[in-house]
Amino acid sequence: MQSYSRWHTLENAEQVALAVYDHILKSAEQAIAVKGQFKLVLAGGSTPEKVYRLLTKADADWSKWFIYYGDERCLPVDHADRNSVMAVESFLSQVAIPAAQIFTMPAELGPDLAAKAYYDVVAQALPFDMVLLGMGEDGHTASLFPGHVHVEEDLTHAVYNSPKPPPERVSISAKALSDSTEVLFLITGVNKQDAVNGWRTGESLPVATIVPKSGIDVYIDQDANAI
Ligand code: 6PG
Repeated sequence: MQSYSRWHTLENAEQVALAVYDHILKSAEQAIAVKGQFKLVLAGGSTPEKVYRLLTKADADWSKWFIYYGDERCLPVDHADRNSVMAVESFLSQVAIPAAQIFTMPAELGPDLAAKAYYDVVAQALPFDMVLLGMGEDGHTASLFPGHVHVEEDLTHAVYNSPKPPPERVSISAKALSDSTEVLFLITGVNKQDAVNGWRTGESLPVATIVPKSGIDVYIDQDANAI
């Protein structure tokens, strides 16, 4: 399956973060003006973290934001390697989004229970307004890894044997991540070149399974984009 894509090439990771920050704020304003809320799915990774730090300085209507996670590592609640811990530290602890509007994945329960619990959250949230995603150097996105087989129709997946530690994770499915008004990929660093080229030439990588109706926006730096 292919979806059309808009590629935005920026000089470096800082410029990628700034461009994504602008995009998020514009989309949030628009969504809130039209329907009174903005449902945003967060990603892990170093480039999203830069965006989150920028967002803490924004003058946004935080009371209308709803926060979800695309994936989580099955680690204790306060473990430093959890995406939720990074997002809280860099962003959520510093803005006035009501706690009841932040939907953390209960990944500490293990993949199966967490995926079941988060299914209901995703089912009630869909469609999302915006999904943020990174990409690993093997072409994985969220916790959807090459070679892993999941039931496509599910909204969430229990993930075992992740090639990247920790091995146990929970992820929103490609189908549910694609059910979003906008999907933004944030891709930086020279180690992403092979996967980016594979994606562009039609290799069947997990990133290529994210196919929202409106296409995707890929924010990428020059290092990752060298063809
Ligand atoms: C994970 C990471 C991972 C990350 C990519 C890109 O849980 O394994 O969160 O999915 O998003 O590896 O990371 P960078 O933005 O740091 O390049």
